[in-house]
Amino acid sequence: VSSRRRAVAAALVLAAFGAAALSIGAGGPPSVRRAATPDSFPTGTGRAIAERACLFCHSAMLVTQQAKDSTGWEKTIAQMEKWGAPLSPAEHDSLRAYLLTSFGPHAQR
Ligand code: HEC
Repeated sequence: VSSRRRAVAAALVLAAFGAAALSIGAGGPPSVRRAATPDSFPTGTGRAIAERACLFCHSAMLVTQQAKDSTGWEKTIAQMEKWGAPLSPAEHDSLRAYLLTSFGPHAQR
C-alpha cells in the first residue's frame, strides 16, 4: 500500500468520525425537538373543535405528545368533558376521530 493510499484511507476514516459526531450533536434532547410535540393542533376536521374546547385549560402540547388508541382517546375526552370541556355529542365523536388520526398508535409524525 502506498503512503498516498494510506493518507486517503485515513482521511476517509476521519470524515466518517466527523459525520458521526455531527449527527450526535444535531439531535438534542427529545423534549425540545419542536416537530415531535408541536404546541398547536394539525390541520384537519376537528381542529377547530380542539382549539375551542381544549386550549382554554392547557397547551396543545399535552395532547400532541400523546399516542392513544380509540379507547384511550374516548377515556381522555370523557375525563376532559367531566372537568368542563364543552362538547356536543357530535363534536365528541368528530374530535375522537381527529385525535385518533393525528395522535393514534400509528400516527405519522
Ligand atoms: C376544564 C379544563 C380542561 C379542559 C377544557 C381540557 N382539559 Fe385536558 N387536562 C386538564 C388538566 C387539569 C389536565 C392534567 C391532568 C393530569 O395532570 O393528569 C389535563 C390533561 C390532559 C391530557 C394529558 C393526560 C391524559 O389523560 O393523557 C390530555 C391528552 C388532555 N388533557 C386532552 C384534552 C383535550 C383533547 C381537551 C379538549 C376536548 C381537553 N384536554 C380539555 C384540564 C382540561
